[in-house]
Amino acid sequence: MSHEEFPTENPAVVTCGLPYANGDLHVGHLRTYVGGDAFARALETLGQRTAFVSGSDMHGTPVAVNAWEEGVTPEEFALRHHEKYRKTFPKFDVEFDNYGHTAEDTNVELTQQFVRELDDGGYIYEQEIEVAWDPAEDQPLPDRYVEGTCPYCGARARGDECDEGCGRHLEPGEIEDPTSAITGNPAEYRTREHKFLRLSEFQDYLGEFIDRMEGTANAKNQPREWIEGELQDWCITRDLDWGIEYPGEEDLVLYVWVDAPIEYVSSTKQYTERVGSEEFDWEQAWQDDGELVHVIGRDIIQHHTVFWPAMLRGVDYQEPRAVLASGFVNLDGKGFSTSRNRAVWVDDYLDEGFDTDLYRYYIMTGSGFQQDIDFSWERFAERVNGELVGTVGNFLYRSLLFAHRNYGGTPDGEVSEEVRERIEDAMDDFRDGVNDYSVRAVANAAVELAGFGNEYIQRHEPWNAEDPERAQVICDCVQLSKAVTVLAEPVMPGMAARLWSQLDEGGSVHDVALDAALDAPPVEFDAPEEPFERIDDERVAELNEKLEAQIAAASDGEGGDGDDTAGGEHADHEALVDERIGFDEFQDLDIRVGKVLTAEGIDGADDLARLEVDLGVETRQIVAGIKQLHDLDGLAGERVVVLANIEKTELFGVESNGMVLAAGDEADLLRTHGDSPPGTKIR
Ligand code: MSP
Ligand code: ZN
Repeated sequence: MSHEEFPTENPAVVTCGLPYANGDLHVGHLRTYVGGDAFARALETLGQRTAFVSGSDMHGTPVAVNAWEEGVTPEEFALRHHEKYRKTFPKFDVEFDNYGHTAEDTNVELTQQFVRELDDGGYIYEQEIEVAWDPAEDQPLPDRYVEGTCPYCGARARGDECDEGCGRHLEPGEIEDPTSAITGNPAEYRTREHKFLRLSEFQDYLGEFIDRMEGTANAKNQPREWIEGELQDWCITRDLDWGIEYPGEEDLVLYVWVDAPIEYVSSTKQYTERVGSEEFDWEQAWQDDGELVHVIGRDIIQHHTVFWPAMLRGVDYQEPRAVLASGFVNLDGKGFSTSRNRAVWVDDYLDEGFDTDLYRYYIMTGSGFQQDIDFSWERFAERVNGELVGTVGNFLYRSLLFAHRNYGGTPDGEVSEEVRERIEDAMDDFRDGVNDYSVRAVANAAVELAGFGNEYIQRHEPWNAEDPERAQVICDCVQLSKAVTVLAEPVMPGMAARLWSQLDEGGSVHDVALDAALDAPPVEFDAPEEPFERIDDERVAELNEKLEAQIAAASDGEGGDGDDTAGGEHADHEALVDERIGFDEFQDLDIRVGKVLTAEGIDGADDLARLEVDLGVETRQIVAGIKQLHDLDGLAGERVVVLANIEKTELFGVESNGMVLAAGDEADLLRTHGDSPPGTKIR
């Protein structure tokens, strides 16, 4: 790995979190897969040699429990879903170079090899521990077979993760008040021998690694607490039949989070076996100098920034260069719930007959990548009608139609200086987007260029001009259309491919480099078709009705929250508040300029930080929900704005005496424009 800008000389591997082969795919999952696909495509456009891989996650209790409920074997159950996923991804133009699964020989062998090497390196030891057991059924209850209370935050949790609360991974035996998820029987604890990975040995390494690692801020900041606290060793075996056998131990299988990430390597290896090592060398990528980029959802950050890098280090493999962790897609502020059918299913979207580029665009640009977002057909239609139909489609269609009608294609001539420079700027934005790991910025580079095109055509009114001015404007517009096509390809590959053949370009737009944006377009091409269709209000109303009925049915008799992690932040802006307050009421607020003296995470609380803030007249201790959204180490010395006379409160046992003001879901901290000193009153 290098930390040079992309493209580098090294091979890159882009991976997507493996879907558990245990149910239908919903549009939330697609955030990981479209994100990975678009990022991999963008890297390739920059000329980076890239393998884009993933596979189905076949093992573990997420699969075993669901298979048991259906009364089939885990293998049969998982294979059925695997086949389904393999066929579904290409429908969304998610084109993996290799899509395998974790139960294939390649992965079984590589996993056992990893484990043997970790063992030889002295990183594995055996220890007796207490594991949950169903006494009535005389059956062990690993992971999802057991439910109870999270010892860290008190939320309802599963055996291996606090999925509705703090999001932590839980070790066997940690969950409190355990009951069997299958029979509801209260569980007891029994003593068993299990294998542990000495995570504590990697503490210093992980501390340095996380400083180097690139990607989204949540992936860099969230693990600090675990890495800087005391790292617990990690239990890597389970009492289960379904899984990869621990080498030499017949009645122990490996914990699913051991063999799952190794599939990233196995899948790359299978790709090499197919195309040859001259084309892509998996060993070079994973063991020598590959740029490894993992695209995941925010619920599995810990696995990718703590457990996985430790395993890679233990076998002397490359470390990840970047982790990109998306926010969740929710409904009405609550997590999707597979068991309650509260979700927008990928199959339902496809049945509606919508172009898959529309969803790709919406999910990549509808909010920041890290932000949780509520799925909304209105917002979806708004973005389709506004940016895709109104800006991109409108520009491409009218430019190419005018060019075709008047010149049968591209008029003679050269692109003007102004347009060439604007295209070069868009190419820079695209490159910066990739290097900032922002697919949204990559998409915006294309859409904003189309916006410029509309403004350009409006300004020059070719329909009122005579040649040669008219030919010049149209020549510019065809070039802009071609550039928009090249830049839009990562996020909207379907539209880009249609446009490319529309322009009568040879080959595939997927294979061209960024520079193609400035290559001369063909002299002749046919009449264009409109790239996107509008979604009218009636259709939105219909879709909403269906979705609302589905949500209502899902909520019937519902006890708690969704069974998937919910975030509950809205991407849409709230309406302005109608009710007015008097000036006197405003004056009751004591708002001050403050200066952060210290900032540190609060142990056990995922989002909270303890700040000491200088308010000029005194120093206050304030708790703020910014732990994952800011690099706390960089906050000392920063000016902030504080509501000083809000009631005192206590969070996670820490008193909070004031409130730091911030904007939006990413907690953008407020400050003043000038240098007003701490204590200055804001009025
Ligand atoms: N099998 C594990 C990942 C193993 S990676 C070595 C897993 N599977 S999953 O099926 O639950 O999730 C697959 C991907 O979809 C993950 O990246 C996960 O974060 C993401 N998402 C699942 N539900 C999601 C939403 N509702 N919203 C956004 N992303 C979601 O985790
Ligand atoms: Zn918890």
